[in-house]
Amino acid sequence: MMKMKLVYFVFFIFIVSITSLFTFSSPAAPDEPYLGFNIGTEASNFPSPEALVSFLQLQKISHVRLYDPDPGVLKALARSRIRVVVGIPNDQLLAIGTSNVTAVAWVKNNVLAYYPQTVITGISVGDEVLTTVPVWGPVLVPAMQFLYGALAAQNLSSIIKVSTPHAASLILDMFPPSQAFFNQSLNSVMLPLLGFLSRTGSPLMVNFYPYYVFMENRGVVPLETSLLRPLSSPSKEMVDPNTMLHYTNVLDAMIDAAYFAMKNLNFTDIKVLVTETGWPSKGDSSEPYATADNAVQYNSNLIKHVFDRTGTPLHPEVTPSVYLYELFNEDMRTMPLSEANWGFFYGNFTPVYLLHISGTDGFLASNTANQTYCVAMEGVDKKTLQTALDWACGPGQANCTGIQPGESCFQPNDIRSHASYAFDSYYQKEGKRDVSCNFNGVAMITTTDPSYGGCIFPGRLKGNATQPTVNSTANSGTHDQTSRLASYHFLLLLLIVAIGL
Ligand SMILES: *[C@@H]1O[C@H](CO)[C@@H](O)[C@H](O)[C@H]1NC(C)=O
Ligand SMILES: *[C@@H]1O[C@H](CO)[C@@H](O)[C@H](O)[C@H]1NC(C)=O
Ligand SMILES: *[C@@H]1O[C@H](CO)[C@@H](O)[C@H](O)[C@H]1NC(C)=O
Ligand SMILES: *[C@@H]1O[C@H](CO)[C@@H](O)[C@H](O)[C@H]1NC(C)=O
Ligand SMILES: *[C@@H]1O[C@H](CO)[C@@H](O)[C@H](O)[C@H]1NC(C)=O
Ligand SMILES: *[C@@H]1O[C@H](CO)[C@@H](O)[C@H](O)[C@H]1NC(C)=O
Ligand SMILES: *[C@@H]1O[C@H](CO)[C@@H](O)[C@H](O)[C@H]1NC(C)=O
Ligand SMILES: *[C@@H]1O[C@H](CO)[C@@H](O)[C@H](O)[C@H]1NC(C)=O
Repeated sequence: MMKMKLVYFVFFIFIVSITSLFTFSSPAAPDEPYLGFNIGTEASNFPSPEALVSFLQLQKISHVRLYDPDPGVLKALARSRIRVVVGIPNDQLLAIGTSNVTAVAWVKNNVLAYYPQTVITGISVGDEVLTTVPVWGPVLVPAMQFLYGALAAQNLSSIIKVSTPHAASLILDMFPPSQAFFNQSLNSVMLPLLGFLSRTGSPLMVNFYPYYVFMENRGVVPLETSLLRPLSSPSKEMVDPNTMLHYTNVLDAMIDAAYFAMKNLNFTDIKVLVTETGWPSKGDSSEPYATADNAVQYNSNLIKHVFDRTGTPLHPEVTPSVYLYELFNEDMRTMPLSEANWGFFYGNFTPVYLLHISGTDGFLASNTANQTYCVAMEGVDKKTLQTALDWACGPGQANCTGIQPGESCFQPNDIRSHASYAFDSYYQKEGKRDVSCNFNGVAMITTTDPSYGGCIFPGRLKGNATQPTVNSTANSGTHDQTSRLASYHFLLLLLIVAIGL
């Protein structure tokens, strides 16, 4: 009896381990919740498309939303496997919503020109149209239908979803969630819109900011629940008197409010997708809660919440996916000051603050340790890299011993790998000043430790001299897979032993 149990147990681990082996190669199974990033571009030092894509990959960011179909970025995303939602700016709605020819041309120029190399998975039609430019409400659904028709003609309508992000203010009386309803004066748009989403299996996109809820209801909504903090006592839970559902945070309540608002119009089969959420790290005197500490808390708690997959009180089985707002601080935005300070990173890839997350499988692996490294970008010109490498190891006086033949960082023997080591050595020696990680634009700062196998980068040695990793010949890109394979072999061994017993 014991023996059978052991076998079953081990077999179970074995299956789990096999599963994890496969999830590695397909990081985004269709129904798994994910975290993506909005990428606004009003940053004075916005990186080149190539640098941006390498950065996304380093940080294991698998989903992004672009506000407009930037050709450079869409092209650079090719073969990255990063999933992209492409936005249509509000000022193009009228043209698309009044002419299916224009819609077909838009799809051709902004989707088909890049797909499938660039994995476009959605089109977000306009942004908060019904609340910012309600006069265009009447063309919104026609625009979505025309775009859908253009995709359907290419057999892509089941792969590329068409929807439109709404402001949370469209939903009235959100608290308690069971009483929420869509602003009824917009029902003439919302009814056909929900019909479209339901028919096409597309999500309801909503931008949810507990930050604004908190600011607008100070003294009523506690900071604790706005920041998704674990509550200090169950008595702080918000209980919806109609459903008796217990809410521990504002975001879940907002998401459920969206479900109730849809239910109120008899739609129960549409998923909620949070297309924007975040917390600003800085504000002016009227925005005292826009602080780095609150931003760290909100975003860290949110990331953990999505990874925990606990769903919402109404739908514990469905954890909505979330696009964080936003990747970079958009310093060119003005008034109020918070507008320029929603980013997780500055345009040069340095983190604005450090998150407290762990167990998130490398997602933003970065921001858990206050250590930065300087590495060569991917996809940059080899000659420029070689020149920079020569300079770093020569006049720059970087310590390039580690990349000499026979030394631990010599393999893989290629320019990019050697340049990364030399750049990091120089950068650490120069006290990690931003200007020391440029090298004619082929270098970038990262918070992901580039060390691999027996090759320890100077930045790691500096931060922690006594931390060798496992010996292996894998480079940083395949490191995870190697360790998964190792555990798979280990479990296989266990299984054999168990059967032997
Ligand atoms: C565009 O609209 C015209 C007229 O309504 C229709 O005949 C045609 O099939 C439409 N084309 C597409 C691609 O939807
Ligand atoms: C769409 O699929 C149908 C049936 O599978 C096929 O006949 C047609 O050629 C496809 N169209 C395109 C544009 O791929
Ligand atoms: C509902 O929408 C109408 C039309 O856009 C707007 O004038 C009104 O202020 C909205 N109501 C609320 C309570 O937001
Ligand atoms: C929703 O369904 C109920 C019951 O069938 C019906 O009374 C109500 O009018 C419907 N509401 C809408 C907006 O269609
Ligand atoms: C990292 O540490 C340095 C020095 O200890 C400090 O100046 C810097 O602000 C920290 N960075 C972040 C993002 O906290
Ligand atoms: C250069 O790096 C090597 C390790 O790769 C180390 O042993 C050596 O002490 C370093 N030299 C200096 C001058 O720091
Ligand atoms: C070095 O790493 C060890 C083990 O991870 C850790 O306990 C220690 O605090 C680290 N030291 C520094 C200076 O980061
Ligand atoms: C790693 O390799 C070195 C030399 O190749 C060896 O001395 C060391 O014991 C190895 N460490 C581990 C943890 O296997």
